[in-house]
Amino acid sequence: MKKITTWSTLIWLCIFMLHSCSPSIAESTPRFPYSVIRPESLSVLTENELYETKYFTQILDHFNYHPESYQTFQQRYLINDKYWDGSQKKAPIFVYTGNEGDIEWFAQNTGFMFETAPKFKALLVFTEHRFYGKSIPFGGDKKVAYSNSSTLGYLSSTQALADYASLIIDLKKNLTAEDSPVIVLGGSYGGMLAAWFRLKYPHVAIGALASSSPILNFDDIVSPYSFNNIITEDFKSVSENCYKVIKGSWSEIENTAQQKGGLESLRNSFKICKNYIDVNSLKGWLNTAFVYTAMTDYPTPSNFLNHLPAHPVKQMCNAIDDPMAGNNTFAKLYGAANIYYNYTGNATCFNLNDNSDPHDLGGWQWQACTEMILLTEGNNEESIFPASQWNYTDRASNCNTDYGVEPRRHWITTEFGGHDIKMVLKRFGSNIIFFNGLRDPWSGGGVLKSISKSLIAIVAKEGAHHVDLRFSTKDDPEWLKDVRKKEIKIISNWLTKYYHDLSQLAM
Ligand SMILES: *[C@@H]1O[C@H](CO)[C@@H](O)[C@H](O)[C@H]1NC(C)=O
Ligand SMILES: *[C@@H]1O[C@H](CO)[C@@H](O)[C@H](O)[C@H]1NC(C)=O
Ligand SMILES: *[C@@H]1O[C@H](CO)[C@@H](O)[C@H](O)[C@H]1NC(C)=O
Ligand SMILES: *[C@@H]1O[C@H](CO)[C@@H](O)[C@H](O)[C@H]1NC(C)=O
Ligand SMILES: *[C@@H]1O[C@H](CO)[C@@H](O)[C@H](O)[C@H]1NC(C)=O
Ligand SMILES: *[C@@H]1O[C@H](CO)[C@@H](O)[C@H](O)[C@H]1NC(C)=O
Repeated sequence: MKKITTWSTLIWLCIFMLHSCSPSIAESTPRFPYSVIRPESLSVLTENELYETKYFTQILDHFNYHPESYQTFQQRYLINDKYWDGSQKKAPIFVYTGNEGDIEWFAQNTGFMFETAPKFKALLVFTEHRFYGKSIPFGGDKKVAYSNSSTLGYLSSTQALADYASLIIDLKKNLTAEDSPVIVLGGSYGGMLAAWFRLKYPHVAIGALASSSPILNFDDIVSPYSFNNIITEDFKSVSENCYKVIKGSWSEIENTAQQKGGLESLRNSFKICKNYIDVNSLKGWLNTAFVYTAMTDYPTPSNFLNHLPAHPVKQMCNAIDDPMAGNNTFAKLYGAANIYYNYTGNATCFNLNDNSDPHDLGGWQWQACTEMILLTEGNNEESIFPASQWNYTDRASNCNTDYGVEPRRHWITTEFGGHDIKMVLKRFGSNIIFFNGLRDPWSGGGVLKSISKSLIAIVAKEGAHHVDLRFSTKDDPEWLKDVRKKEIKIISNWLTKYYHDLSQLAM
């Protein structure tokens, strides 16, 4: 069982933890709920067959010429040339722009690339994001790299994109594959990076598939309520009663906690391990279950951070609506929590203090305190969570405490845009697919309408967080198969056009 602090638990924890909100980085700073799903069908390929691991000597700071900027580090990348038709044929290169975590984890879960490579005869590359996994600056020593803001200062999206550009250009040179077209792909933060990469480095990538990338979740472009509104709708659409029970439970938990022996009774109701601390972590733990279940509300069984059944929101609501649970709200919630935390049935008790980080995602806390000011924490009166205001001051003060830095609140939109995206991108952008599943709370910050003939929004009403990139399964619904078919078709067209242009140039 993994406890992941989400964006929406940031304010959550802060609200409920009150005084203890700011000091601990681990508790208070949010992570990006990216996700890729370990497929059941991975068994068709063993992990050894998926890729080979390589390292590239990367420069520490691409953006100035101070002597210390010339320090280097080893950036990991994974490569699979099994399907590639080679440089002679100018066969394409698909590059996954790594997210905030161990690249192997992302690679092993991005079935779309492995499944489409044979068709495109593509070379597959997965580039790891600096400061994550094994791509650690300062001699590869994570302790040193994460010491303080002087070392963490080199962790940013712009540096990561420059890493990817340098690596791709060098790799193509080594392979004498300068004419091979590059398509970048990614999901979640990786999808944001793919989209931004196409905009910033059009000479390196001819197109991007940006799946569930909330590039509009900055500044005041979308409502800070959108994230939790979508979660609310996810549950409401399954059952009004389910929504009401969850919505009403927060005050009931609070009231119980305040009674004599209340905490102990809550601990028993939820089978919390003996190290259970307080009511705020219980609320955060439940919140996490609802947020992640909504995000990964897939039509087939999955394993994101936890194993989940198909349509897990529905399963949770079934537990809540179960007449056997009578009128006992906590028994209902316990049943729901079991779906997220104990689907395999082998949890003996729930450890609310589990801060383990097997996928090495910790660096996101720094990113969330510098440039990734994503607005997800607002809850209006309708919300399934208690009403709350998104509060920037609060974030800034936590970040100051944790790292001694002030977030650059508007940097992302300054660097990559986002305001009036239709007007702007229509005039110069091309070849980006924005996929969004509307059950995914992050879809609120996604590009949901096509901007031009080649800036295409694909929206799946029943879809969740980058469901398109998952390995396919025999039970995939038609709409999901259609999404993938559409994406493949569009990428094919980009490639056809590219080869056509190339042949014209050669004449
Ligand atoms: C930051 O960490 C580095 C590496 O551990 C160290 O050399 C440096 O003195 C630290 N700087 C501050 C201001 O603490
Ligand atoms: C390209 O080849 C050089 C020389 O062998 C090597 O140092 C470098 O790491 C290679 N680039 C990549 C991206 O692997
Ligand atoms: C549940 O509560 C309702 C209203 O308070 C009551 O009418 C009903 O009998 C209760 N059901 C059970 C099983 O306790
Ligand atoms: C829990 O169950 C799953 C599936 O049966 C199994 O793969 C996993 O190893 C078990 N975990 C533990 C901690 O026993
Ligand atoms: C997990 O599920 C199993 C099987 O349903 C159950 O026996 C066990 O008590 C559950 N664990 C917790 C902590 O609720
Ligand atoms: C926002 O947070 C700050 C600092 O934590 C607090 O002083 C302020 O009252 C909050 N504002 C709102 C509207 O809640």
